[in-house]
Amino acid sequence: MNTPTYAAQHAASLHDAEAFWAGEAGRLQWFQEPPRPVLSRDADTGFYRWFRGGKLNTSWLCLDYHVQHGRAGQVALVYDSPVTGQVRRYTYQELLHLTSRFAGGLRQLGVRPGDRVILYMPNLPEAVITMLACARLGAVHSVVFGGFAPHELAVRINDAEPCVLVCASAGLEFDKVIPYKPLVDTALQLARHRPEHVVVLQRDFCRAELQPERDVDFQHLLQAAPVDAVPLDATDPLYILYTSGTTGKPKGVVRDNGGHAVALKYSMSAIYGVQPGDTFWAASDIGWAVGHSYSVYGPLLHGCTSVLFEGKPVRTPDAGTFWRVIQDHQVGVLFTAPTAIRAIKKEDPSGQLAQQYELGSLRHLFVAGERCDPATYAWAGATLGVPVVDHWWQTESGWPMLATLVGLPDMPAPRAGSAGHPVPGYNVQILDEAGQPVPAGTTGLVAVRLPLPPGCLPTLWQDDARFRSAYLDAFPGYYLSGDGGYQDAEGYLYIMGRVDDVINVAGHRLSTGELEELLAAHPAVAECAVLGIACELRGQVPVGLVVLKDGQTIPEQQLQQELVSLIRERVGAVACFRQAAVVARLPKTRSGKILRKTLRQVADGEEFTIPSTIDDPAILDEIRAVLAQRGIGRAFAQNVS
Ligand code: COA
Ligand code: AMP
Repeated sequence: MNTPTYAAQHAASLHDAEAFWAGEAGRLQWFQEPPRPVLSRDADTGFYRWFRGGKLNTSWLCLDYHVQHGRAGQVALVYDSPVTGQVRRYTYQELLHLTSRFAGGLRQLGVRPGDRVILYMPNLPEAVITMLACARLGAVHSVVFGGFAPHELAVRINDAEPCVLVCASAGLEFDKVIPYKPLVDTALQLARHRPEHVVVLQRDFCRAELQPERDVDFQHLLQAAPVDAVPLDATDPLYILYTSGTTGKPKGVVRDNGGHAVALKYSMSAIYGVQPGDTFWAASDIGWAVGHSYSVYGPLLHGCTSVLFEGKPVRTPDAGTFWRVIQDHQVGVLFTAPTAIRAIKKEDPSGQLAQQYELGSLRHLFVAGERCDPATYAWAGATLGVPVVDHWWQTESGWPMLATLVGLPDMPAPRAGSAGHPVPGYNVQILDEAGQPVPAGTTGLVAVRLPLPPGCLPTLWQDDARFRSAYLDAFPGYYLSGDGGYQDAEGYLYIMGRVDDVINVAGHRLSTGELEELLAAHPAVAECAVLGIACELRGQVPVGLVVLKDGQTIPEQQLQQELVSLIRERVGAVACFRQAAVVARLPKTRSGKILRKTLRQVADGEEFTIPSTIDDPAILDEIRAVLAQRGIGRAFAQNVS
C-alpha cells in the first residue's frame, strides 16, 4: 500500500483525529485494544485522554515483542563511551533478560505499579535497563539530569515522592570524575521525602560507600528472578520528567503509556524515515526528553538499534568523535542539538575530521533543542553531505511538533532557519496577544489547537491547576507553547525563541525566575534580573543584574563570585552562570514589572523601541554603560567560553 503524502496525512490527522490515531495504534500489539472512540475527556478536569480502556506495556513492546518476532539476536542498544573507553552491545534478548531481572529486583524492594522511582545516572545501559524495568512493573520513573545539583534533585524527590532512587556511583565529564553518590546523600538530607532504598551502580573508577539498610548494590538486584510485564492502562503514567517553568518549582511533565507508544512509533518512520533494524542515534543525555524519546523508547518500540553515547561532541577525545561513532555503528540518523554542532565547528572549522571517517551510512542529521542558526545549518550540511532537518519540540510534547517528515512522500524540503511544517496531529497556529491568528510573515505566539495528539502531556504531576494555568488558560482551545515565531507565505514555520522567562543554555532549559529567586536570597541583594544573553557556543547564557541593598559595600568581584557559587551549588554547573553586574536600578514598567526583554535586547545590542510603559528610559543607558564596562553581552564582547 502506498504511504499517503504529508499533506494528506496532516489533513486526515486534523479532520478525523480519532480515525487517524486509531490506525496508528493498530501498528502496536496491545494486550487489549482500546475501544472506539479513542479520544475521551476526563470527567472532572475536562483534559483530553487518548486510548482509554486500552491495555499494553511499553517495556513489553520495546523488548518482548521484538524477541518474539525475530529480533532476539539483533543489537538493541550500543553503549559507546569514549570517556571510559568502553563499547558494549546488548541484543534484544540480552536487554530483555537484564530488564526483567532488574524489574524482579525492584519488586523485591517493594516497588509496585504507580510507585515512583527516581534515576540520577549518566548515559549508561543500566539507566536504560532501570527505565525499562520500571515500565515493566508499571512503576513511574523520573530521570533527573546528572548535571543538576543536590538542591534540584531534592526538589524533584519531594515532588515525585519516590520509594526507590537509583543512581550511579559517579559520572565522567571529560576526564573529571563527578561522584554522584555524595550528591544523592546531600539531596536526601535536604529533601523532606525519603525513599526507602537507594540502589547504587558501582563504577570502578569511583566506588561509593553504601549505607547499610538503605543502600543496595545494582548488581545484587540483577540476580533476582525475572518478572513478566504488567498489563497497564493506556492512560497510566509511564514517567514524569521535570522541566523548567517560569517559577522556581519545576513542572513535572507526565507521559502516559498508550499515547506515547503510538506517537513515538509513528514518528520513527514518518518523521525520521527509519525502518526496524536501522541504527538511530540521539546524542542527548537520558535526563532530557530527547534522551527518553529517542535514545530509549522510540528506537526500541520500532525495533531499531539505538546508540547510547557517554561523552561530549568535543574533547572526548576530539571533535571527530561524533563522526567516529557514525562510522563504527553504521548510524543511519543522528539527532543532536545545534550547540553540539557549533562546538564541533569551533574546534574543526573546515570540517576536516569528518573526512577521516566513512560516513556513508548517514542519511539525515536532525537537530532540535534550540533554533538552528543558518550558519550552523549550512556548515553541518556541507560537512556531512546529508540533509539537515531542524525540528521543533518540547519536553511537554515529547515528540516533534514541527518537522520535515523525511519518511512521507511529497514533503517540502527543509529550509535553513525554519523548523519545517506541522507534524500530523498538530494544528499549529501563530496568535496575537488577543489569541487571534496573525497573517503570514507576522511574528506571534506559537500555539497548538486542542486536542493535542497522542504522546503529549495529559497534565502535570499532581498539579492539574498548574497545567491549566501554564498552558491552557491564556487562549481557550489552545495549548500555549511559550515560544514565539512566524509562518511564511509558503507555510514554513520559524521558531524564534521563548516569550516567557525560560532560557535555553546549550540545549538545556532553565528558568530565569528560579535563578532570580536564588540570587535574591543573597544577603546583599535587594533585587535582581536574570537575562539569557546571546552566546555563540551555547545559544544563550544567563547573566545577573543585581541592585544592592542600601548600605551594602561588598566589592562587585566578590559578590559575583558568591553568586556564581550559589547557582553552581543550588542549580548545578550546567546553568553556566558566570557573570553578574551591579546596577543602580532596574528598568520597570510603571506598575513595577522588570522589563527583562528590553534588558536582553540592550545586552545583545539589538535594536528596540523603548517601551511606552517604562518609568524612566534613562535607566537603559545606565545599564548599557555598566555592561560595556564589564564586557558583558554581544554588543561588547564575544561571550564564548
Ligand atoms: N553531570 C555533571 N556535570 C555536568 C553534566 C553532568 N551530566 N553536564 C554538564 N555538566 C557540567 C560541565 O562539566 C560544566 O562544568 P564546569 O563549569 O565545571 O566546566 C558545566 O556543567 C557546563 O556544561 P556544558 O554546558 O555542557 O559545557 P561543556 O563545556 O561541558 O560542553 C557542549 C559544551 C556544547 C559540548 C555541551 O553543552 C553539549 O554537548 N551540549 C549539547 C546538549 C544536548 O545534547 N542537549 C539535549 C537537547 S537535544
Ligand atoms: P525542552 O523542553 O528542554 O526540550 O525545551 C523546549 C524549548 O526549546 C522550546 O520551547 C524552544 O524554545 C526550544 N526549541 C526546541 N527545539 C527548537 C527548534 N528546533 N527551534 C527553535 N527552538 C527550539
